[in-house]
Amino acid sequence: MGKILESIQNTVIAGIILTIIIIAGQSGWFAEFGFDQAFYARYLHVLSGVMWIGLLWYFNFVQIPTMPSIPDELKPAIGKHIAPNALFWFRWGAMATLFTGLWLASANHYIVDALTLKSGTILIGMGMWMAIIMWFNVWFIIWPNQKIALGMVEADASAKPAAARKAMLFSRTNTLLSIPMLLCMVGQQNGMAF
Ligand code: HEM
Repeated sequence: MGKILESIQNTVIAGIILTIIIIAGQSGWFAEFGFDQAFYARYLHVLSGVMWIGLLWYFNFVQIPTMPSIPDELKPAIGKHIAPNALFWFRWGAMATLFTGLWLASANHYIVDALTLKSGTILIGMGMWMAIIMWFNVWFIIWPNQKIALGMVEADASAKPAAARKAMLFSRTNTLLSIPMLLCMVGQQNGMAF
């Protein structure tokens, strides 16, 4: 067990194997194994959404507020090691959430109706638009500015504080939007559709 849990790769592989066993068991050990697209899209969507929003909340609830109290000589551990790694999983989690979300809407046969806010899909449509804006913020505002702030690209030293502030404010905006966005995501299936 130690060998599995000491490696993140082995931990994820073990998680996937356990999931496959549950699916196989629940479907009569493959006897009636049917491919329900919406089910798998929904599962992968929530999995990647947790990766994205979990890291967004880590930045906003843990890293940003703790940074000022970390002694200067320890700050590079965050800026040079933890943050770049967290940002990798953060932005690719956002990408996977977007694609699986659009796949789910298409498997549910309402992708165009939802994006054009037609009656019956207004709630999920609003959630999708909020999440799409959040995805845009991650890839085109937060990530480029974080690269400057963390010194991952060539830039004037004077540009760093402004870039860090811009990334922080857009990350805060995404935290704000994550609260109503998630209501719209889970509300659609719970009779909140309007
Ligand atoms: C990036 C753009 C996104 C799109 C296009 C999208 C799209 C969708 C769609 C179409 C549904 C199905 C609603 C239904 O009919 O029940 C859904 C559900 C859901 N989404 Fe998203 N979503 C996005 C982002 C997110 C994010 C960031 C999260 C964060 C965790 C998230 C979490 C969920 C959850 C928890 C559900 C409910 C699943 C269920 O009730 O079984 N989504 N989403």
